[in-house]
Amino acid sequence: MRVLVLTGAGVSAESGIPTFRGKDGYWRNFDPAKLATPEAFARDPQLIWDWYRERRERIRNARPNAAHEAIARLAQHSKDFLLVTQNVDDLHARAGVPAQKMVQIHGNIFVTRCSRCDWRAERRDAKTSNIRDHTGLVRGRPSTATNEEHDRLSTCPHCTALMRPGVVWFGEQLPWNELERVENFLDSGACDVVIVAGTTATFGYIIDWAIRGSRDAGELIEVNPEETQLTRFATRLVRKPAATALPQIVEDLINRSAL
Ligand code: OAD
Repeated sequence: MRVLVLTGAGVSAESGIPTFRGKDGYWRNFDPAKLATPEAFARDPQLIWDWYRERRERIRNARPNAAHEAIARLAQHSKDFLLVTQNVDDLHARAGVPAQKMVQIHGNIFVTRCSRCDWRAERRDAKTSNIRDHTGLVRGRPSTATNEEHDRLSTCPHCTALMRPGVVWFGEQLPWNELERVENFLDSGACDVVIVAGTTATFGYIIDWAIRGSRDAGELIEVNPEETQLTRFATRLVRKPAATALPQIVEDLINRSAL
């Protein structure tokens, strides 16, 4: 089976992480222009870091749910597999999807990067992670800073510009190396199945990738309790929460491919 899975905030909703556009979603209560743009960061970096510190802490305390686990199982059983997630949390990784089978197209909330040079550090947790630079090498010793200290406004050890969260904000380009990985996967063949779960598919590239992935009669399954912009292109609609729907869908796909 050649499988592409596209996920959004709805997949982490049952782990207690708020969505963006849902009933209690971030963008229902906050203005994205004030929290998720480079201009907002330039205007009030402290406010932005306060918001990201709170979100990091919430994610650290969350656990992968049955949807993340089902996707990890599908990754393991598929011949060719790519997960493209818009989520900046690490719940897919913690459920067991290997880094080489996953693209975080909107970045990773646990990366802190320089707003000017290419210095970056990734640390999920004070106890478990190392500081890494942009080449992926571990530099120096793991920090002894607490999460609280690590997650606050700081300056780059190289160029002294402000450090920022390693996520994509409105008005910014998607990371080209991650885009290239998605394009390479799509170029190297059509998929038997594309699953799009827990996203409003607000961004055109999500719809584009889903359609291109399922060309040549591949199945396009939407898992979402609500209708979205992708709905009219789907060949199958599953109007259930992801943690209920995905374990069954994955079980069926694995059984079918074993025939
Ligand atoms: P949204 O908040 O736009 O959409 C969440 C979707 O999940 C909605 O369609 C819900 O119906 C659905 N949903 C809610 N609970 C669910 C559940 N238990 N199971 C399945 N589906 C459920 O989130 P995204 O589509 O991920 O970007 O948003 C895309 C991007 O917009 C985010 O990555 C973020 C945001 O602005 C950036 O920050 C760049």
